[in-house]
Order: sequence, then structure tokens, then C-alpha cells
Amino acid sequence: MLHKIINNSHLLRIYKNNHLTLYPNFNLKIMIHYKELGLVNSRDLFSKAVKGGYAIPAFNFNNLEQLQAIIMACVETKSPVILQVSKGARKYANSTLLQYLAKGAVEYSKELGCAIPIVLHLDHGDSFETCKSCIETGFSSVMIDGSHLSFEENIKETKKVVDFAHQFDVTVEGELGVLAGIEDEISHEHSSYTQPAEVEEFVKRTGVDSLAISIGTSHGAFKFKVRPGELPPPLRFDILEEVERRIPGFPIVLHGASSVPQEIVAEINKYGGKMENTCGVSEEQLRRAASSAVCKINIDSDGRLAVTAAVRKVLFEKPSEFDPRNYLGPARDALKVLYMHKIEKVLGSLNRA
Ligand code: G3H
Ligand code: 13P
Ligand code: ZN
Repeated sequence: MLHKIINNSHLLRIYKNNHLTLYPNFNLKIMIHYKELGLVNSRDLFSKAVKGGYAIPAFNFNNLEQLQAIIMACVETKSPVILQVSKGARKYANSTLLQYLAKGAVEYSKELGCAIPIVLHLDHGDSFETCKSCIETGFSSVMIDGSHLSFEENIKETKKVVDFAHQFDVTVEGELGVLAGIEDEISHEHSSYTQPAEVEEFVKRTGVDSLAISIGTSHGAFKFKVRPGELPPPLRFDILEEVERRIPGFPIVLHGASSVPQEIVAEINKYGGKMENTCGVSEEQLRRAASSAVCKINIDSDGRLAVTAAVRKVLFEKPSEFDPRNYLGPARDALKVLYMHKIEKVLGSLNRA
């Protein structure tokens, strides 16, 4: 078991099972290994989740209140968690601050009474360089999103990240198939489903630890164009089943899994917002997916909606309010309620910490 890395200018001293090995220092500027921050990678969490028929929540965060709500909700439900950071979130929040926020999250969970397993994961990594930089600054897991590349290019880029990441016991998520919606600055108008015939070769040649697939979910709050009263198209469970048949027990990831609760959208509109024709993935379908090999479910937009509704309500009802704690506090409370609901009623990860 790798448990300590110390950096100096030329070599990395890595202790495995109390044996010291020296590795070349790949031009690392600051190397903080995630284990020094008290974080874990996703390997054990995924293998338990696949066997146990539940999914680990992967909640995106950009700021303190989101992080507080995630940790409070996960400690209260005793759920493991994946703290998910996009490239845009790194730019917004600053990568050094994020590193210390993640360390703070580990200590905060202990202070709240339950040291839950916490993964710090790069969401939609766009290049080897972004993934490398995250690994150097304390991430325990990265996604390399080569879904827009050709099959061969995707394999090449993903394998490069895996080869680098695995030296540091960092786990890697790859993606096959394209989701509709917006992923960081890349916008896809149309999705293309994952082709099950490609998954075995992709997993074998890249060595990835988990695979994101496209079975009809989509990013954002406007997932499907449906008329009022119409149901969104069902997820393609036939594709998921065929993927599971080809790579039995392999950890599968679902992106774009917000349900876009209509009561929250109504609240936003009631207090001055204007969000029309929003639509999400039904919780019932997500529950079904979570009981299969899908062991990580990504939720970002639902949190954004909950924050927006709470902030709008306070500012609408109290137009003279100007202390951010008095509108961000209620936003944090609303987020905590949302996350606990996801864990208990959708993902099934409660009491799995
Ligand atoms: O899938 C994308 C996530 O919702 C992150 O969004 O790139 O705007 O931070 P972002
Ligand atoms: P949503 O936009 O559905 O929340 O998806 C988030 C996501 O996939 C993050 O990677
Ligand atoms: Zn995503």
C-alpha cells in the first residue's frame, strides 16, 4: 500500500509497504499527494457500490457553501462522497484554495462525527495537462473526457492519463459516447449513444478504472424538448445491460443525472426568475440505474437550481437584505436537504461510509 510521498527537486520518494522507492520528478512544481490530505481514490468505493447495488454521489462544487452542504448531508446520512471539480470550477475558485477546501472537508467530516470516505475528482478533464496538474495538487481521481475524439485518439489520450495517474494510485474515469448539453465550454447539440461493441476494447487498452457512458442523460437544466405534460424519453437500459454483459462488474458512471425538480423551478419563477421548458431525468430511472453496475451518478444542475431558488426567495421577500450570509445560509440549507434526498431516495448510498 502506497502511503507517503515526499517531494524534493529531483526525485519523488515514495514509500510502499515501508520500502522506499525513488521516482523521477516529472517536472512537478508542487506535489501534494491526496493521501496527505486524507482523501481516498474511488477504487474500493466503486467495487463496494457495484456489489451493493447503489451509487456514490458525485456532487459538483465551486464554493464554500456548496462544500459545507455536501459534507453535512453526507455525514448525516453516513454516505461516501465524490467532490467533483470541473475545469471551470478550478478557474473560478483557484486550485490552491480548492486543495485546502478538500483537506478542510476531511477534517470537517471528522468534527461532525463521521470520517466519511472523500474523493476529490476532476470532472470532464479536457487534456493530459489538466489531469496532471490536478494529480499534482491533491486530486485522488480524474476524468479524461475524450468522448469528442475518434475512438483511437480517445484511447491514446486516456491511456496517457492512466499511465501517469496510476503511478500515484490516482483512479481514472474515461468516457465513450457523447451526451447532449454543455460540458464546460464544449456544447453538444446532439447526443450519440455509447456503442457497447467498443467498451471491452476501450477498457482493456486504456486501463481505466471506470467508464462514463451515454444512455440518454444530458447535461444542464434543459435536457429534453418535451411538450407540457409529456414524459421525457426513457433511458436506454438496453445499452446499459449490453455494456454490463460485455464488461461484467466494471464500474459505470452516469453524467447529466439531475432531475430538475419542477417544484424548485416553480419557486425560481415565483420569485422573479424565468426558466421555461426545463426538464430532467426521472428519479425512478436513476434508482434503477443505481442498482446496476452504475456506481457513480453526477449531479450539478439540481444544486444550482436549489441555490438560485433560495437566494431569489430571500432577496424577493427582503429587498433590503445585503448580508450574503442571510441568503447564502438558506441556500446552503436547501442544498443539504436536496443532497440528503438524493442519497436516501435515489442513489441508495446511505450508511455505506
Ligand atoms: O458537466 C458539467 C458540470 O455540470 C460542470 O459544469 O463546467 O459549468 O463547472 P461547469
Ligand atoms: P447535470 O447537469 O445533470 O447536473 O450533470 C452534471 C454532470 O454530469 C457533471 O459532470
Ligand atoms: Zn458531466
